[in-house]
Amino acid sequence: MSSLANQPGVAEQFAAFGAQWRPGERLSAHTSLGVGGPADMIRLRDYRRLPELMEYLRRRGVPWRLLGGGSNLLVVDEGLEDVALQLLREPEGLKFDGSRVEVPASANLGTTVMECAKRNLGGMEGLIGVPGTVGGALHMNAGAYGTQIGDVVRAVTVFRGASGRVEVLRTEDVRFEYRHSSFGSDDILLSVSLDLPERPYAEILERVKQCNQKRRASQPINEKSAGCIFKNPPGHSTGKMIDELGLKGTRVGGAVISERHANFIVNRQGATAADIFKLMELIRERVLKAYGVELEEEVIVWKN
Ligand code: EPU
Repeated sequence: MSSLANQPGVAEQFAAFGAQWRPGERLSAHTSLGVGGPADMIRLRDYRRLPELMEYLRRRGVPWRLLGGGSNLLVVDEGLEDVALQLLREPEGLKFDGSRVEVPASANLGTTVMECAKRNLGGMEGLIGVPGTVGGALHMNAGAYGTQIGDVVRAVTVFRGASGRVEVLRTEDVRFEYRHSSFGSDDILLSVSLDLPERPYAEILERVKQCNQKRRASQPINEKSAGCIFKNPPGHSTGKMIDELGLKGTRVGGAVISERHANFIVNRQGATAADIFKLMELIRERVLKAYGVELEEEVIVWKN
């Protein structure tokens, strides 16, 4: 519960910002892993109102976190004291101009890849099948099959928590690394301008199909997960190490190390976040002992 809970008039105040106030929302319903306790949630549709809303929170000293698509997120069972802020999908969608496209950060990544493909714009084929929003993908420079979203970014419109202002950053002003960008946790990405190579639709579609096939064959795409749970340390494949240790199928409560890809923890039969943390600890210890490698989380963990 946040410090705003139980204060009179809060819902009306957020309604005046064009936002919804949803106290005690269970985050398990907003994460692909399907775990996570309650948090007070604010959902905003018109991001032009964001600076006012953020100023309201700042003046009251209310800490917040931005919830994107929830596809790479592990939230503790006891829930959060911070408010979870979510930008709802923009109705106006993508704006094309030659090889450039302006995409709202709240857009679905897979839909964006396909909408661009229909206009003969490629370069993002590898990202098909990566769940979540464009903003979330960019914040952590999501990548797969040789594509990283940071490679095709031209500019980013971002609300900067530090200054309380909306700024437009060019690619040169942002650092993209393996599953990491230079954006801070108080930066809220609003829209992204992509510059994409022109390619025939059929060619893009063929590559999309190949990536989909590879993903289906090697990842548990029909189960609840947060994708790969640990990063690959330089020179190592985490999935391969966990697999070699014979840990596939290991279970703690309702959480299981996927038999299909060992760097995925799947939620079968009502796992809790605590089950998942125990399984992660077990993996970390076994990999450290056998390979002398310390694993770093790839999944974003929300705890108090
Ligand atoms: N492998 C095994 N057993 C396993 C899993 C993998 O032996 O259970 C072996 C594979 O046979 C292969 C090697 O390990 O030789 C690498 O596996 P894979 O090609 O599946 O790629 P990965 O390194 O495990 C990375 C990304 C994925 C991304 C794929 C495809 C990370 C942590 N993972 O996985 O991203 O989809 O490449 O490009 O960087 C994610 O970010 O959540 C994610 C799933």
